[in-house]
Amino acid sequence: MEKTFLMIKPDGVQRQLIGEIVNRFERKGLQLVGAKLMSIPTNLAEQHYGEHKGKPFYDELVSFITSGPVFAMVWQGENVVELTRKMMGKTNPKDAEPGTIRGDYSTQVSQNIIHGSDSLESAEREIALFFNQNELIKSENLINS
Ligand code: TYD
Ligand code: MG
Repeated sequence: MEKTFLMIKPDGVQRQLIGEIVNRFERKGLQLVGAKLMSIPTNLAEQHYGEHKGKPFYDELVSFITSGPVFAMVWQGENVVELTRKMMGKTNPKDAEPGTIRGDYSTQVSQNIIHGSDSLESAEREIALFFNQNELIKSENLINS
């Protein structure tokens, strides 16, 4: 079953949106298989956002994502990567539709509440960066699988 990495960024945690956001994915029918509140060390932030190194927003991005606790999660479900990207909305909140997470809760691209893997390959890479295998619930132990 497909898995993705989702992370509520420091702005979302600080604004107490963890419950609100988790609720959306639960109601959609996706399965939470791992989660933790954590601080991101700079080297992990640099690995996670490696594809953006050299871009004008990179330094601000790394300093923002390490500025406070994040809520890192792994969700599972059919087409979960595509579905959760759709539920997050466009990267820039000015383009994100109302009804999406970014569309409903953010106004600035640099503080857009949530990260989500953009492909199966990045999901695999990002899950491995943030979680050990033993921190994830195995499919055979899920009630609705
Ligand atoms: P990106 O991977 O393009 O977006 P997404 O989070 O939707 O996969 O960019 C990573 C993050 O970098 C994005 O969530 C917010 C930040 N960012 C900026 O601050 N300014 C920008 O112009 C862009 C494109 C991204
Ligand atoms: Mg991205």
